[in-house]
Amino acid sequence: MAKYRIAWMPGDGVGKDVMEAARIVLDAMDFDAEYVHADIGWEFWCREGNPLPDRTVEILRSTDCALFGAITSKPRDEAADELATELKGTGLVYYSPIVRLRQLLNLHTNLRPCKGYEGNPLNFRGSEARPVDRPIDLVVFRENTEGMYGGVEWNPLPKSIADAMADEKVGHPARMKRWYEKGLENVALSTRIMSRQGCESICRQAFDYAAKHKRRSVTLAEKPNVLRETGGLMTRAFRDVAKDYPGVEAWEANIDAICMWMIKNPQDYDVLVAENMFGDIISDLCAGLVGGLGFASAANIGDDYAVFEPTHGSAPKYAGQYKVNPMAMLLTCTLMFEWLGEGDEASRLESAIATVIRERRIGTYDVGLSNTTLEVAEEIARRV
Ligand code: IPM
Ligand code: MN
Repeated sequence: MAKYRIAWMPGDGVGKDVMEAARIVLDAMDFDAEYVHADIGWEFWCREGNPLPDRTVEILRSTDCALFGAITSKPRDEAADELATELKGTGLVYYSPIVRLRQLLNLHTNLRPCKGYEGNPLNFRGSEARPVDRPIDLVVFRENTEGMYGGVEWNPLPKSIADAMADEKVGHPARMKRWYEKGLENVALSTRIMSRQGCESICRQAFDYAAKHKRRSVTLAEKPNVLRETGGLMTRAFRDVAKDYPGVEAWEANIDAICMWMIKNPQDYDVLVAENMFGDIISDLCAGLVGGLGFASAANIGDDYAVFEPTHGSAPKYAGQYKVNPMAMLLTCTLMFEWLGEGDEASRLESAIATVIRERRIGTYDVGLSNTTLEVAEEIARRV
């Protein structure tokens, strides 16, 4: 029996290309795992009306962790249009299977390292006045189940919700008047629900990571001056947790300001922590500093299960062309190794990746070279 059972979910578009690349490398490493294919994505939405079939959830529950390629998501109405004829008009509503998975399996932590590997021509170099003088090495901790992406939304706004918000004792009657006047059918509401536990947990993990890896600082990206309750809760949790880590500097920044500061002085930042949506935004910004989504890895981590996926999407126009950069997926495999406690395998793979990037002989179009996804994987496979 293999040491690990890993759910294998290529998903949509280039997810399949990069997972094939991952397999080349994992096999070359003789990684002792059994891979169990699991269906997920657009195809299953169109055919079955469910992008995350129950049989897939069962596979996840019987494996150690999962590797995941990418997913195609479309807005509600467009998604409904693409359903199989017999499913049309049955009231099925599309949902993002990855967002659902994070909630279903309580994968509360999204870990997104962004490292500027030496020799990557896409590394951000800063300005003439303040060039980036050392490699960018950022790690984002994104809360993964609460906040703006918690999935509690309405359109139209139900009267009971509107009335509750307009209630004298708990709500905002004067402000709600405006929305009643517009007609509740014209109003949409997405909530930002956060818990003390969720905030504390993500902050603690960020500080733990910083302490363990001898990082200088953890920066909270929030907006407590406007989002007084949710942002305030997160800020208080951050400050409380910070007290337990006197060796790590705790910085606070507003989400808008930090997007500017990270472009001006990216090397000042280290570990970042944020709620779901702000973490989503800031992790793309960080990825952009180190070569873009082709280099951005991610891990969705829960208490005893994890789903590893590159940050990039399914790029439908490149699907099946073996054009996209497999580095994000391969770096994602290093996160899986780390999580499984296979630190040596993680270092072995990361150093092969770093070598191939540094040499700049073999690479995909985004780094100015002309190799295919699989050729890059084969080169890394030779180096591991
Ligand atoms: C990500 C993606 C997803 C998200 C989308 C595809 C639902 O942007 O993993 O960052 O917003 O979490
Ligand atoms: Mn994103």
